[in-house]
Amino acid sequence: MDPKQIAEIEVDVLLESIRLRYDYDFRHYARASLKRRVQNMLVKENLQMPYQLIPRILYDQSIFDRFLSEMSVTVTEMFRDPSFFEALQETVFPALKTYPFFKIWHAGCATGEEVYSLAILLKEAGLLDRARIYATDYNNHSLKIAKQGIYRSENFEDNTKAYQRAGGKNQLSDYYTQQYDAIKFKDSLKDNITFAYHNLVKDGVFGEMHLVVCRNVLIYFDKDLQNHALTLFDNSLARRGFLCLGSKETIDYSVLKNSFESQSRSNKIFRKNN
Ligand SMILES: C[S@@+](CC[C@H](N)C(=O)[O-])C[C@H]1O[C@@H](n2cnc3c(N)ncnc32)[C@H](O)[C@@H]1O
Repeated sequence: MDPKQIAEIEVDVLLESIRLRYDYDFRHYARASLKRRVQNMLVKENLQMPYQLIPRILYDQSIFDRFLSEMSVTVTEMFRDPSFFEALQETVFPALKTYPFFKIWHAGCATGEEVYSLAILLKEAGLLDRARIYATDYNNHSLKIAKQGIYRSENFEDNTKAYQRAGGKNQLSDYYTQQYDAIKFKDSLKDNITFAYHNLVKDGVFGEMHLVVCRNVLIYFDKDLQNHALTLFDNSLARRGFLCLGSKETIDYSVLKNSFESQSRSNKIFRKNN
């Protein structure tokens, strides 16, 4: 057997060890990016071969925690893709306005910037009081930051520009207080948000959601896991609910291709058929 094939076996055994020891299942993550992350981990831990990671991860939780943050790719930003947020206000908010109360599931929320962006726009539309937002991720460290809502202020000039491009009506600074080099979002934005652990690989549905936002997460999954997550979203959505994906993600060629219609093709906003 050639060494490349043996290295694939090593990766498989590593993933199986992680699954049995920590109940995190990465077997259906996109293989090329998964292997790059294993490689990054080897460099950081000063190791040569994937098999060398196995005993270390099995016996040392802190090494697994580092592996999880390597796998998580928690890169995010406020009003990421401002045109998406503009389209959300134009296509989804009018439907949300027809409900006295509605529920949103924000899956893969990372450190929370995207959820606060959504909460700000809902507030400006007079809708935040009617919303219950469930913001979930499988990375507890990111969730802790998201719950605190405290961020370094160095990016806030860019964030302000993105907020304006997204159609923000006020000043972004109206929504936070600044302390030294950090900003803290006001508690009034958080009142309707519940941050919680949820793993898209193995956890269940959220009932009767009107909107599911899951952007830039499915790109890390293989086709089977993408279909699994999309089915979870479908089963979580109420009749005529909306689904929003990331700019490089789609329901085309997926299990949902016939049960959802596109509302904004370029902004990846889909709506469940009747
Ligand atoms: C690139 S971030 C996207 C953050 C945000 N949605 C955005 O678009 O800016 C991907 C997030 O997906 C989360 N994630 C990856 N696999 C997951 C899983 N199986 N269940 C829940 N969250 C997952 C990661 O922890 C990370 O926070």
